[in-house]
Amino acid sequence: MQTFKIEPLIIVIFGASGDLARRKLIPAIYDLFSRGLLPKNFALLGVGRTKYTDDQFRQESFLGNNFLDNPAGTEDAGSDFSNHLFYQALDTSDVAQYELLKSRLDQLDQNFNTKGNCIFYLSTPPSLYGTIPAALAAHGLHQHPSGFRRLVIEKPFGYDLVSAVKLNRTLRGYFLEDNIFRIDHYLGKETVQNLLVTRFSNGIFEPLWNRNYIQHIEITSAEDIGVEGRGGYYDSSGAMRDMLQNHLLQLVALVAMEPPIAPTATAIRSEKNKLFQSMMEVPSAQVRQVAIRGQYLQSHIRGKVVRGYREEPGVDEKSRTETFAALKFSIENWRWSGVPFYIRTGKRLPTRVAEITITFRKPPQRLFRSETDLMNQANNQLVIRIQPDEGLLLNFAVKKPGDSFLASNVGMDFRYSELGDADIPEAYERLLLDCIKGDSTLFAHGESVELSWRFIDPILQAWQHDPEIPIYGYPAGSWGPIEADGLIEDTDLKWRNPCRRLTSDTNFCEL
Ligand code: BG6
Repeated sequence: MQTFKIEPLIIVIFGASGDLARRKLIPAIYDLFSRGLLPKNFALLGVGRTKYTDDQFRQESFLGNNFLDNPAGTEDAGSDFSNHLFYQALDTSDVAQYELLKSRLDQLDQNFNTKGNCIFYLSTPPSLYGTIPAALAAHGLHQHPSGFRRLVIEKPFGYDLVSAVKLNRTLRGYFLEDNIFRIDHYLGKETVQNLLVTRFSNGIFEPLWNRNYIQHIEITSAEDIGVEGRGGYYDSSGAMRDMLQNHLLQLVALVAMEPPIAPTATAIRSEKNKLFQSMMEVPSAQVRQVAIRGQYLQSHIRGKVVRGYREEPGVDEKSRTETFAALKFSIENWRWSGVPFYIRTGKRLPTRVAEITITFRKPPQRLFRSETDLMNQANNQLVIRIQPDEGLLLNFAVKKPGDSFLASNVGMDFRYSELGDADIPEAYERLLLDCIKGDSTLFAHGESVELSWRFIDPILQAWQHDPEIPIYGYPAGSWGPIEADGLIEDTDLKWRNPCRRLTSDTNFCEL
């Protein structure tokens, strides 16, 4: 097994005065620091247009940011950490100004003895993903004779297949693929990583994990919030690009891929790529039947009026951007041929929840009747809950106590919160630590990004060019357009509409 070492280093955050850096990145780095996971020889250099001094940056991004309320931290740890923070004002689109960055890095390298090791984190608009690496390269900052130079970027990795290929080509022009870390924060979630452990550390699931025993697989990632002030960005993106092409397809890959030969980045990524290659592209004539899109409409939620998507600030009043997307597709390989996969995501759905449901086939004979449906017996289901109320739930039938042989459905569950040491780390913390160690297992590989776009692109093309394909309205707070229910053709099955708490009976839930 590959071992990774934490070396002295400088982390450079471009876009350091922005929201992501302040809310997620700096708190995550601070947590790593206070848990003793960062070396003493470590510096964080914020880069941005805002003209901060080092002290102003420390105050704005860290000290004035309620960090020290964090139970991991103490005031001492806080002021100690703050001594590792620095700032360089820079117009990132002006190549000449990178000379300032170069001399600042040289100086920090000497002061902290970081041996030339450096991570460049682009927490910037994607339009700078080409510009910044090119400017770093123009000053020779993209490589070092003895230290490592890594590049971290956030999704979106392209807008479609063509732009994703172009972006990969640009990035690989300056950095080796092994040094490019593409963050999909779903892969940093503990429960997403647990998918691999659940599947491949247990003898009971994997023998059943195929077309012979599984009837269908569904994935729901729902949010109750709307676009929350991100209307401008969202209107040029939509649910398919924002969530489905990346987060949901990564979940599909982990749930459906073959066992890797080892728990290494190369082996896992190679299995994921094979899986993406087996996902059947949807012919444009079929898009209307298998891909449903929707947009939330004004509605009342718990007595309050909630505005519709087109009324959101920054959104075009005639917008045709989807805030809901549901898809049916198949994976044509030995394991999954004929098993439908259903995935959906949306904003302004009833609750924030992400879960994967594996629905098993029924036994060949119906010996006992179900207490709730005398004609049918429920399918066994394994529910893998990503968030919230993280855990696993297995639904199965037992005899209803009494003098008849009626089958009653019950759930057997495990919740992370029941573990004694159930402190689930923030996704960013795990991902940053892995990047610091140089372990790319939980990052998206360039090839898998292109393969997932290859699958999604024809659907987006059809949505854009075929005026016959409707965009359905759905009331804010509902489970999306009813047309999405029709994707599941099996008459006695429907989407599992999860509750906020992980529970077998989803008919009555507290949302
Ligand atoms: C982001 C999307 O990638 O994921 C957001 O851009 C979305 O629109 C978010 O809200 C959801 O993440 P999580 O971790 O809350 O499920």
